[in-house]
Amino acid sequence: MEANKVLLLSSVDILNLCSMREAIEAVREAFILTSENRVEVPRRIHLDVPQSKGTCLVMPSYLPDREKIGVKIINLYEENPGKGLPFSHALMLVFEASTGQPLGIMEASTLTALRTGAACGLATKLLSRTESMKMALFGAGFQARFQLEAVAAVRSLEEVLVFDQDRKRAEQFAAQMSDKLGLKIRVADSASKAVAEADIISTATTSKVPVLADKDLKPGVHINAIGSYKPAEREIPSETVARARVFVDKKDMALEEAGDLIIPIKEGVFSAEKIVAEIGEVASGKKPGRLSSEEITFFKTVGVAAQDVVLSSRVLKMALEKGAGQEFDFSRG
Ligand SMILES: NC(=O)c1ccc[n+]([C@@H]2O[C@H](COP(=O)([O-])OP(=O)(O)OC[C@H]3O[C@@H](n4cnc5c(N)ncnc54)[C@H](O)[C@@H]3O)[C@@H](O)[C@H]2O)c1
Repeated sequence: MEANKVLLLSSVDILNLCSMREAIEAVREAFILTSENRVEVPRRIHLDVPQSKGTCLVMPSYLPDREKIGVKIINLYEENPGKGLPFSHALMLVFEASTGQPLGIMEASTLTALRTGAACGLATKLLSRTESMKMALFGAGFQARFQLEAVAAVRSLEEVLVFDQDRKRAEQFAAQMSDKLGLKIRVADSASKAVAEADIISTATTSKVPVLADKDLKPGVHINAIGSYKPAEREIPSETVARARVFVDKKDMALEEAGDLIIPIKEGVFSAEKIVAEIGEVASGKKPGRLSSEEITFFKTVGVAAQDVVLSSRVLKMALEKGAGQEFDFSRG
């Protein structure tokens, strides 16, 4: 690309360029780099916009191995869905680290959904029982599709039960995704019915309180939780966290942001030392994952900027190879 020309990539470009399997591979690399401290990820900035019940997250990262700097800005607005608007809006900026030159700008709600789904795809592959066939999915919003695609990419699913507090949304989701993936997807009448038979549970909701009850869980279930990212909010009950084998994306961030862990720690039923490993340590073989078919495994991700910089760098490379996207000239006048 000529100097000062930046590639613009839309949501559709990203989805056309990168399959879920490729995203899982990228996220695997990102988590290994994270656990080996080979990617610089400063603490992300949470900027509250209280008048509009919004949060702006600014997530910088530096990937020395690829000579890339990434900065993602993601705005999460809880009242947007009620206004018919998406819950999140986001942009990803990619720069050449050796010169600081901008290389790409991409729509990042899709990038985020893809890398968050991929994180749970990786965790499911590493932690769920290989014979897992039944999945329960909580939430039928934007992230849900990617959660489902990721699990379907790593396990042979026979049936999926989807539960959303908005039943209509769950019904539309089930109809669309059954056609798209050729899977049996049904709407569950209640949270307890959704999890009763589940081998794998993924939660992708905007709930601030637990979406399921510990007593309903089957032995040996694997749980992925992506929804909450604030200390006072969570999707998974304390009893489950207390008895599960717990894995996270990045330990320090999870302990700062994940109410799913912070609340049980405050209650005295869990502690930071009980976190078994970062998922990157399991991916690289440094730490074991599941130890028995009876135990519950729990993966909590709050999202790490390393996922964004690794995936966006790969997507940018694919776009350049395939001539996708649009160039924009940012030369100085
Ligand atoms: N961990 C990460 O890296 C990461 C990345 C992106 C988004 N997220 C989070 O994922 C969550 C979902 O995002 P989205 O874009 O899909 O939002 P969305 O608004 O499109 O969908 C959320 C869905 O959750 C449903 N819901 C809320 N409470 C529920 C409950 N108790 N039981 C069942 N369903 C319930 C809503 O009805 C809605 O359909 C958000 O909280 C977002 O912050 C996390």
